[in-house]
Amino acid sequence: MNKLYSVEQALKLSKDQVQSNYKNHINPEFVKMLKLLNFDKNYIKADDVEVFDQDGNKYLDFLGGYGSLNLGHNRKEIIDEVNKVIDRPNLLQASIGGIYGAAAYNLAQITPGNLSISFFGNSGTEAVEGAIKLARASTGKEKIIYCKDSFHGKSYGSLSITGREKYQKRFNPLLPKTEQVNFNDLDSLKEKLKSSDNIAAVILEPIQGEGGVIVPSEGYLLNVRKLCDHYSVLMILDEIQTGLGRTGKLFAANYEEVTPDIMCLAKSLGGGIEPVGAYITSKKVWNKAYGRMDDALLHTSTFGGNTRASAAVIASINYIVDNDLSNQAFKKGEYFLSELKILEEKYDLVKEVRGKGLLIGLEFNQPESKIMDRLSSGMFSKLSYQYLGAMVAGTLNNNHNIITAYTLNNPNVIRLEPPLTVSYEQIDYVVNSLKDIFENNSNIFNLTINNASNLFKGFFK
Ligand SMILES: Cc1ncc(COP(=O)(O)O)c(C=O)c1O
Repeated sequence: MNKLYSVEQALKLSKDQVQSNYKNHINPEFVKMLKLLNFDKNYIKADDVEVFDQDGNKYLDFLGGYGSLNLGHNRKEIIDEVNKVIDRPNLLQASIGGIYGAAAYNLAQITPGNLSISFFGNSGTEAVEGAIKLARASTGKEKIIYCKDSFHGKSYGSLSITGREKYQKRFNPLLPKTEQVNFNDLDSLKEKLKSSDNIAAVILEPIQGEGGVIVPSEGYLLNVRKLCDHYSVLMILDEIQTGLGRTGKLFAANYEEVTPDIMCLAKSLGGGIEPVGAYITSKKVWNKAYGRMDDALLHTSTFGGNTRASAAVIASINYIVDNDLSNQAFKKGEYFLSELKILEEKYDLVKEVRGKGLLIGLEFNQPESKIMDRLSSGMFSKLSYQYLGAMVAGTLNNNHNIITAYTLNNPNVIRLEPPLTVSYEQIDYVVNSLKDIFENNSNIFNLTINNASNLFKGFFK
């Protein structure tokens, strides 16, 4: 056995050592990919919207932990509250967790309508797994309807209802009795619901985050609710990315005053400090599934509802409510979107700017270059399609010290999803940086050539 690292030593590793450990023990291909995109910085400090690398360079985090950092990095108020439970038993499953119960109580106060009974796990995908099981157990029916381009997680159940073939195809067979409809298409949903009386639930995101920040038409959610009621099917709303203030209301469902039967949450629920995922449902739905003593342990998790995670949930909910982060997201989002719309009007590179609150997507126009395609046997188009968002994100990162990323199901879109505590000055800085990139790369062709030489070299090798 080689000598083991202490945490203190791990904190002092050089960038090369960090990469070598990741390469040898976690995911060599991910290291390769980040290197190609020049994304391989070694960040060692973070505070609110700011992150610092080992050379002391400051970056603005507009990725926001894919929506996990609504409260910013290392929010001190949450850490202090978690520290208050530090001498309580953190894991003692054969007992009734007092802090867990209080966290679930808080969640019931802020979620819509009659949602009142929660299950806590440790991630978004676990919240979705729990929701699938609950829907089947509660209704005694089997089918789950999901949307094309959705993202609900990568464990087997969630993956089975994640509408992107790339993530699914290597892992077949997936969960049976899952069927897809188009997002924002009430007719196809109605047809599907009409076609079978074996449907347990419809699951959807109020705004498709990883699908490329797709905002459905006004009234869509409410009509999905009505269709679900009409056909006696449960409605599961995945607010894992949209929830807890992100879109300008506490939950995106609040825009249309919709109460789902099951709501999934995760990401910012733990305040960016503790990993927590949860579903919350009504007493009626829960009782039908698990309302007998014999069923009390049918769905459990060893770490779910642990004391520190629960304290983080209590503190986060209070912080979001006390500081009216939803309203902050609403106002800052309107400002940010209006500034970005000006860029959309002015630059051909930008196809569309869309979003709600501080969940914003920037979609780019695809380049057309017959010459480059001839020289590269079509690789130019293929790469620029798959990595266009990454190229812009790379330029923002390398030239302007701004962290962003493309959306998982649509690599042509970069997401702008900063902590809700972001300042107007920070928003201005990002808008001006984007302007600078668009000015200096008046078309995608230039951007690709200027920024992707590494990428091309990497792929042609
Ligand atoms: C809407 C939605 N659902 C589920 C998930 C999965 O969450 P996790 O990565 O914590 O499993 C994500 C993650 O991005 C998400 O955006």
